[in-house]
Amino acid sequence: MNKLKVLKRLFELLKPYKSRLITAFLATIGVSATTGALAYVIKPIMNYIFVNKESQYLYTLPIAVILIFLIRGVFFIYQNYQMTFCAIKVLGQLRSLLYQKIIRLPLEFFDQSRVGYLMSRIVNDVELIRRGIPIINTLAQRAITTLVLIGVAFYQSFILTLCFLIVLPLVVYTNYYINKKLRKFSHKRQSKVADLSSILQEIFNSMMVVKSAATETKEIEKFDRENRWLEKITLKREIYNMMNAPIIQICLGIGMGIVLLFGGSLVIKGEMTPGGLFSFLTALILIFRPLGKVGDANIRIQEAIVGAERVFSLLDSPDIKEEETGKIELKEPFQELIFKNVYFTYPGSSEPALKNINFTVKRGQKVAIIGPSGAGKSTIVKLITQFYRPTKGNILINGRDISEFTLKSLRKYISIVTQGSTLFNTSIRENILYGTEEIDDNKLREVASIAYADSFIENLPNGYDTIVRERGSALSEGQKQRIIIARALLKNPELLILDEATSALDTESEFLVRKAIENLLKGRTAIIIAHRLTTILNADKIIVLDRGEIADQGIHDELLSRCDLYKKLYELEFASDVEDTEYAHVL
Ligand SMILES: Nc1ncnc2c1ncn2[C@@H]1O[C@H](COP(=O)(O)OP(=O)(O)OP(=O)(O)O)[C@@H](O)[C@H]1O
Ligand SMILES: [Mg+2]
Repeated sequence: MNKLKVLKRLFELLKPYKSRLITAFLATIGVSATTGALAYVIKPIMNYIFVNKESQYLYTLPIAVILIFLIRGVFFIYQNYQMTFCAIKVLGQLRSLLYQKIIRLPLEFFDQSRVGYLMSRIVNDVELIRRGIPIINTLAQRAITTLVLIGVAFYQSFILTLCFLIVLPLVVYTNYYINKKLRKFSHKRQSKVADLSSILQEIFNSMMVVKSAATETKEIEKFDRENRWLEKITLKREIYNMMNAPIIQICLGIGMGIVLLFGGSLVIKGEMTPGGLFSFLTALILIFRPLGKVGDANIRIQEAIVGAERVFSLLDSPDIKEEETGKIELKEPFQELIFKNVYFTYPGSSEPALKNINFTVKRGQKVAIIGPSGAGKSTIVKLITQFYRPTKGNILINGRDISEFTLKSLRKYISIVTQGSTLFNTSIRENILYGTEEIDDNKLREVASIAYADSFIENLPNGYDTIVRERGSALSEGQKQRIIIARALLKNPELLILDEATSALDTESEFLVRKAIENLLKGRTAIIIAHRLTTILNADKIIVLDRGEIADQGIHDELLSRCDLYKKLYELEFASDVEDTEYAHVL
């Protein structure tokens, strides 16, 4: 996207604020005109008061000066206020658009992309645009002011203005060159900042892994490397920023020298009044002074363009599509789920994760899926909820391909309970209610007690209003599990998907979670990624998955006699559960 297009897009966003922008622009013209008046008024001041010593002007001219400054100030404030107002509004809107887009993206986008990068767009880039927008007007103001002042200069002396205009191309070119550099380094800096954010995000999320592997030093080195890069780029950008003003001032100095030389000789020869020369010099200084500050304005505009480029490219990117959704509401009671010749390959992967998967789950059945790690168990779940779509084949619920259903109704129909789910950093009540409607306290307690969560929640300092700390760290793994089970109970899904914990919790916690799950499963249709012997013994069907294919399906006894992989898995994974199972039955 080129610079002009980006600006055009930005202006489009500003359209609803047209009337404000027009008044701001008029005020801008007011600022320019009064600035011109200021340069102009120098001439009578010099000639009448200082040279001719005419006392009748002693009151009128100073009052004129005060009035000019006053009017100029009012225009200036008004213009700034309107622009800032529009910028804040546009930015709020842009931020919300981005969030709406991002939250509706398919899950796969979050698997692949770096979360820090997305965060940086919503927070940093948008802020850059906000700071840039009022500057656009400031620059317009400076351009108009410059024209007005050049007008005043021409009026005072045609020849002198021509001399001085020789210096101008030099200034324009330098400005252009420095801007180009600024833009480049702003771009680089932004993406480095995003890199750093994603490193931080990753590390903070995996603190336990880092600490237990004792790789802090290594992580510090990695961070420092990026950090040094950022320092280098920032320094370069600042150097260009710094150079802008002095270079323009040097040009001003050269211009002033030339003007004094020629102008002085004109005054001595009597071809120009001293007032005319001073008015001219004032116009000159007023032209150059804001140019010196353009550096700062530039850096902001350049940054705003960079930010806008990144924001628009995210909003427009054709690869970044919202999830496709069907049209039919899925609400009739669950009858059956059928996987028909389903194949699936992850985007960007060469190996299919699932090959020719066929199975049926009927109402009320508990179907266990087992298989070695990486067999594709979780992938099956992701296909049922349409986080991903099959590459080939069909998944049917009640005889209809699931892609025909609206995503919303499909996902409301299904609950997934997995280990390691995180809770939101809000009250326990809201965590349980998440995704369902408000209910009264009695019902909430009832659900919590079926999930074996009631008693521990009651014992917390604020009961149901206790805030779960970030990533649920204040609660134990088993407690979190039970809150998630309560949430699923409340959602009362037609189809339940359960990913059992691989690592056992401590005995008491494990026991409570198991009882809660038993309650959750009662009378429901469920697909369970099984890691416990009791689950597979109680299952109506067991699907044995191996490297993306179904090795066999049936019930425990059948499989034990005819499926080698099942026998192996049983001996390796589940046999050790036997004692536990007996213990659970006794309890
Ligand atoms: N987002 C992804 N992108 C690419 N490949 C993936 C992705 N997620 C999983 N895979 C691959 O798909 C295959 C199946 O993974 P899946 O997560 O379904 O295994 P699993 O049976 O659930 O294993 P586990 O018991 O370890 O959870 C694996 O080879 C894995 O590397
Ligand atoms: Mg898995």
